[in-house]
Amino acid sequence: MKFTVLTFGCQMNVHDSDWLIRAMESRGWRAVEESEANIFIINTCSVREKPEQKVYSVLGRLAPLCKNPGEFVAIGGCVAQQIGKGFMEKFPHVRLVFGSDGISKAPDALEELAVDHEKSLVLTDFVPEYPERKGGGFTGNTDLVPYGIGTVPGQAFVNIMQGCDNFCAYCIVPYTRGRQKSRSSSAVIDECRSLVDAGIREITLLGQNVNSFGLDKKGADLSFAQLLYEISAIKGLERIRFTTSHPKDIAPEVIRAFGELPNLCPNLHLPVQSGSDRILKKMGRKYDRARYLGIVAGLREVCPEIALTTDIIVGFPGETDEDFEQTMDIMEQVRYESSFSFKYSDRPGVAAVRMQPKVDEQVAQNRLARLQERQNRITRKSLEALVGNEMVVLLERTSKRQEAGGVAWRGKDPGGRVVNVHFDGMDEAVNLAGKLVRVKVSESKNHSLVGSRLGEPW
Ligand code: SAH
Ligand code: SF4
Ligand code: F3S
Repeated sequence: MKFTVLTFGCQMNVHDSDWLIRAMESRGWRAVEESEANIFIINTCSVREKPEQKVYSVLGRLAPLCKNPGEFVAIGGCVAQQIGKGFMEKFPHVRLVFGSDGISKAPDALEELAVDHEKSLVLTDFVPEYPERKGGGFTGNTDLVPYGIGTVPGQAFVNIMQGCDNFCAYCIVPYTRGRQKSRSSSAVIDECRSLVDAGIREITLLGQNVNSFGLDKKGADLSFAQLLYEISAIKGLERIRFTTSHPKDIAPEVIRAFGELPNLCPNLHLPVQSGSDRILKKMGRKYDRARYLGIVAGLREVCPEIALTTDIIVGFPGETDEDFEQTMDIMEQVRYESSFSFKYSDRPGVAAVRMQPKVDEQVAQNRLARLQERQNRITRKSLEALVGNEMVVLLERTSKRQEAGGVAWRGKDPGGRVVNVHFDGMDEAVNLAGKLVRVKVSESKNHSLVGSRLGEPW
């Protein structure tokens, strides 16, 4: 069977899609370009209105490609969970809908539907335990194998939990991903070990709220900090990252880990959402500015070079100019390396839908533009400050921009910054993806660094 997967949304969706691709390939299916595919899988996101709308336009585009028996669309992810069977009622070319927990059964369902052209299936039930997924393992055995299609050689994501219990007032995720379910720590550690054995050098632990790992379970399992220490001790693992962290749950032991674990990258995504205590309260975030800034100070004390990034929402219902200035102020105080910022978007069923007054669209747009402009300035300055430094870069792929007399590779430093590394006199054909190299930074750009290598990649 020839299939293609289109992915929207967060890293969890990207990782889910990668798993599904590997699982289907291990059953003899072939991942191809959209123009060659018979079966189209869309992994959807509904965190804001825009990505949700995209699903409907993609469905329209795919309808003429599903005219023959055996050609169909499968919809997974958060919009699938939200709309469920409704997709099939409106779009006859949709024959499978699978939600967040249903994905573990999607490979069987896809095989069934590829044979039985009359059938359609809906997998949107939540289950009480984290559903372990089988059949998505490696099919190759070389070292530094590419981990799934579309991801980067030498790097892997590992799910440690599913779902979220926080119900922040603006957020649809707890409804689409269900209640928090931690994976067993032994399953997580085993997966990390086998990835490192297979040549993986950087692992990113994934979950909507990784700091509350294990809290949904009764009995003695590991805390998130303990899990980090266990994984950090795996021999051969060069880098660990994790995302996402809710500030309210970050334990002192996790902060300490940034000062103690040599392979824990000095890099943390710590969504602040707003700098105004009044808005944080309405959002139900359960921390205030002082607490957030205290965490930042604690992190910088044990790990001065830590690169912090964040998510910010502007125009949450009731946000005044004064509230917004507080957000600008916290950005200035923390000086994030980069941030994702969004205009508040009403989502069906969330508490903020009923909160008034809604902020005028143009006002929200102006705030967003001001905030992004300020962030760009902060980003430029913090990159400038790194010129002349030496760092280790994990190489990912050749850079878009190439110059004569060598080849440039793009990679990331431990802080997660993009670095383009020039290799003088190196042949383009030499594959450096997944290798580490020492680099001296020579220049900073708006969103990246440029450097030249010091010594041989390893
Ligand atoms: N679990 C993660 C967030 C996942 S959603 C966390 O708590 O950090 C990713 C980001 O989307 C959120 O951090 C928030 O900034 C943004 N977001 C979520 N719902 C939104 C909404 N209704 N409107 C605008 N942005 C939203
Ligand atoms: Fe959404 Fe809040 Fe859960 Fe993050 S912690 S997924 S923002 S409800
Ligand atoms: Fe989107 Fe669902 Fe992730 S709503 S951000 S795909 S958890």
